[in-house]
Amino acid sequence: MKIIITRDYQEMSERAARLVLETVKAKPDAVLGLATGNTPLGLYRALVAAYASGKASFAKVKTFNLDDYVGLPRASRDSFWHYMQDNFFSQVDIKPEHVYLLDGTAKNLADEAANYERHILDEGGIDLQILGIGMDGHIGFCEPGASFTSRTGVVNLTKSTREVNAENLLELKQVPAQGLTMGLGTIMEAQKIVLLANGRHKAFILHKALYGPVAEEVPASILQRHPDCTVIMDAAAAGE
Ligand code: GLP
Repeated sequence: MKIIITRDYQEMSERAARLVLETVKAKPDAVLGLATGNTPLGLYRALVAAYASGKASFAKVKTFNLDDYVGLPRASRDSFWHYMQDNFFSQVDIKPEHVYLLDGTAKNLADEAANYERHILDEGGIDLQILGIGMDGHIGFCEPGASFTSRTGVVNLTKSTREVNAENLLELKQVPAQGLTMGLGTIMEAQKIVLLANGRHKAFILHKALYGPVAEEVPASILQRHPDCTVIMDAAAAGE
């Protein structure tokens, strides 16, 4: 793994944006895997700024988001679809037909998951996958105990994940109990992975994921086995 420690959140976001922009410059029709949460907000701001100043175009880029809630309509303020529209898609020249997000309201979630996997393959696989890390070491919505070979599908969300998300989003009782997420096996097939983490509260789990045993109790630990994974963290997250 390549580990980059930055001064602060801003620098973490700019370093990540640089990697995304290099990928898109080298391959204008690159396939990006995208994450939600607080962590990548600065990255999206930096990408929007690059587009606004004419330094980048996403016109040919395709994107696949990691996950979304089961049962939450896309139009809901709290859906990851809404987050992506607000923070990135609506502010750049990406084409709506190039944007893929799992639909947690699909009638048949198994079909939705299988189609998603097929679309990823049809687009040639993910060139660059952006990840955040949950407080329990989850990536996407792959919670502790998820199989390292798991594929896209429905998962039960842990209490801790629901509580953290409730802080930003809905009241706890309204946070869906399940998510629809790319599997760890799916994520590991990306050509390149960039994991972002900031803040002191992430230091403990980040140390466990990067230096602890590779174990299904800490889903992000699987990244130790990826041939091209860069971790960009701010000084606070590097605290351990
Ligand atoms: C959520 C998302 C993840 C995200 C993680 C961390 O549950 N499904 O994709 O990486 O939590 O979120 P944050 O960046 O807000 O700490």
